Amino acid sequence: MLKVSVAYDTKYGNTKLVAENIVSGLKEAKELDVAISDVDKFDIDGVADFDAILIGAPNRFGRPARKISKFIDKLGKLDLEGKQVAVFDTYLGKDFEKAVKKMEGRINDKTSLQIITPGLSIRVEGMKGPVTEGELHKSKEFGKKIAIQLMK
Ligand SMILES: Cc1cc2nc3c(=O)[nH]c(=O)nc-3n(C[C@H](O)[C@H](O)[C@H](O)COP(=O)(O)O)c2cc1C
Repeated sequence: MLKVSVAYDTKYGNTKLVAENIVSGLKEAKELDVAISDVDKFDIDGVADFDAILIGAPNRFGRPARKISKFIDKLGKLDLEGKQVAVFDTYLGKDFEKAVKKMEGRINDKTSLQIITPGLSIRVEGMKGPVTEGELHKSKEFGKKIAIQLMK
């Protein structure tokens, strides 16, 4: 069974909620074994067990939260050839996809992971949220789409 891990950072819970909705999309495909974890609790030594990893960050000052950039750098030190990755962010206002693009750039520069599909950028209404209406639906669809791609 293919194994997927979802790692996220969150301050107010919005990115966690997006991660959980992505997981519910992934789980609709019953052939996947899905794990989810706050990046603080993520067991980086166990990453080799996964076929794919999804990484989510809140946008902070136009870039992914620092913990996530550091996490990507740590992944870059491991041999993850043949494993796949996709990213997601939460943002306010006009910063659509800004953190997503920076995460993807960093992944391409620093790791051997292969990007499965372009990242997902989810809008929140204020610093503390909530997630903008309709956006959680997109998160679940994103999970479903990734599941289909992984099983091809
Ligand atoms: C210190 C700080 C800086 C932020 N800077 C930006 C920013 O530059 N652009 C943006 O779109 N959102 C910015 N935000 C809003 C966050 O993206 C928003 O709080 C986040 O999506 C909420 O996710 P969370 O509940 O998972 O922490 C900032 C938030 C904080 C706390």
